[in-house]
Amino acid sequence: TSGGRFEAENASISQGVVESNHAGYSGTGFVNYDSASGAYVQWTVSAAAAGPVTLALGYANGTSADRPMDVRVNGALVAGGMSFAGTGAWTTWQTRTLTVNLPAGTSTVRATATTAAGGPNVDYLEV
Ligand code: GCU
Repeated sequence: TSGGRFEAENASISQGVVESNHAGYSGTGFVNYDSASGAYVQWTVSAAAAGPVTLALGYANGTSADRPMDVRVNGALVAGGMSFAGTGAWTTWQTRTLTVNLPAGTSTVRATATTAAGGPNVDYLEV
């Protein structure tokens, strides 16, 4: 697997904007999802060989309400309504992990907001 940290601000963004007004993010900013179900960030990752890998999503949620997201790998749902609970402040960044199977070669990983509130602020995907 070609691991590493893939910044959300460099990924493919639908219905979201890159911002940098809450300290503590990595890279040059984070993605503020629009308040819309269906808003997403999509990364392209690559694996030398097929197999399970652990993904970590860095995020902040300064509200007390969950901001669930569907996670898809190559279009297939691998985590439905994955919880991104409040982190206490927009400047408090945490990670959520999941293990997925990647095929050899390049894959897409997409995190899509499932409620009208949109996603949390998303900083990066780590593989
Ligand atoms: C605030 C916050 C944003 C965040 C938004 C939200 O406006 O500054 O960074 O994205 O709330 O609720 O999603």
